[in-house]
Amino acid sequence: MDADLVVVGSGFFGLTVAERLAEEHGRKVLVIDRRAHIGGNAYSEAEPTTGIEVHRYGAHLFHTSNERVWEYVNRFTAFTSYVHRVYTTHRGEVFPMPINLGTINQFFRSSYGPDAARELVKELSAELGGKKPTNLDEQGVSLIGRPLYEAFIRDYTAKQWQTDPTELPASIISRLPVRYTYDNRYFNDTHEGLPVDGYTAWIERMADHKNIEVRLGVDFFDESQPVNKKNVVGNVPVVYTGPVDRYFDYAEGSLSWRTLDFEQEVLPTGDFQGTSVMNYADADVPYTRIHEFRHFHPERDYPTDRTVIMREFSRFAEKSDEPYYPVNTSVDREKLLAYRDLAAGEKDVLFGGRLGTYKYLDMHMAIGGALSMVDNKLAPYFGGRESLQ
Ligand code: FDA
Repeated sequence: MDADLVVVGSGFFGLTVAERLAEEHGRKVLVIDRRAHIGGNAYSEAEPTTGIEVHRYGAHLFHTSNERVWEYVNRFTAFTSYVHRVYTTHRGEVFPMPINLGTINQFFRSSYGPDAARELVKELSAELGGKKPTNLDEQGVSLIGRPLYEAFIRDYTAKQWQTDPTELPASIISRLPVRYTYDNRYFNDTHEGLPVDGYTAWIERMADHKNIEVRLGVDFFDESQPVNKKNVVGNVPVVYTGPVDRYFDYAEGSLSWRTLDFEQEVLPTGDFQGTSVMNYADADVPYTRIHEFRHFHPERDYPTDRTVIMREFSRFAEKSDEPYYPVNTSVDREKLLAYRDLAAGEKDVLFGGRLGTYKYLDMHMAIGGALSMVDNKLAPYFGGRESLQ
């Protein structure tokens, strides 16, 4: 094999490593991915009948306060001025999210100023009288008070976890931010926007380098393929961004994940909901939210008589499902420690990305983590250090 490094997975983590090694260090990198496309979960494509860009694995909004990451990503794409805002439907009424002064005043039919609203939430949150919350339900009440918790958090969380919040650990939610202003901008990072010509164009530019070869449809564990774990590990250094438990053949047991099911539909209207993301807070609606993709790019010339929506449903993942969000129970954390020990002993293999570290990572975190891995591990190794570890 004519490569200095094999990268398993062509998501943002893997491609950032590949691009830096190829461009900055002049190394030859082979990237494999078991899927038929590059980009990992950030992949997007045009819905064929409307041309509307759809994020196949759930809506992806880019945001960061990390100047190094912002400078880096701007080498491959320009960003629109899109600012993300989310609304939620509760009992037939639409409220702004995250909970802010607008939400509070609409909900209580009131006109509180910031101080009065803060006082109200404080009073409502005191219901448990200082008792330590023993489950998610009590945690919610103690953070924002019962009325707001039950309206906006309880049933939505139950749908996300397919579990009654009285049976979920309090630790799932450590804080529920309430804004005592009318600001309902979803992210508060310095930089925010969507790639002007889409995620896939951005991702393809990262991989477009004479020192990078990408092979799709190649599973690292499929020994019938010329490039696989058995014949690569020990011969060529590897950056592995697939699931860490799979790498070790589930020796310490499976790590648990939540997955999402998406139901996509083209509707014969130019605008279905007037915004990009509408949450559904109530238990009688089975989905958690609806995305309407045209609203991510108001600057584009999309058809005015059709729109694409995607309903999102959430549940625990089976082995054959796409792993999306780590469940992270105490049992998972114990298993993860055992996998970290195994990973540390795997000579010249580095584990990275959201699946390789069993962590939810936003895109900017995956990219930032990959840049650090290049600085701290790969550059010294290719500069003469004996091992990658
Ligand atoms: P990623 O999962 O993208 O890539 C890993 C790749 O490895 C995949 O392509 C996979 O096919 C491949 N692979 C796995 N096993 C393999 C094997 N055995 N052989 C070969 N290839 C293998 N972030 C953000 O900043 N803003 C947002 O709005 C969102 N929204 C969002 C929604 C949803 C539903 C999710 C689940 C996630 C987000 N994210 C996000 C997070 C974002 O998706 C995440 O930061 C990136 O996917 C991380 O990139 P990675 O390269 O780590 O993993």
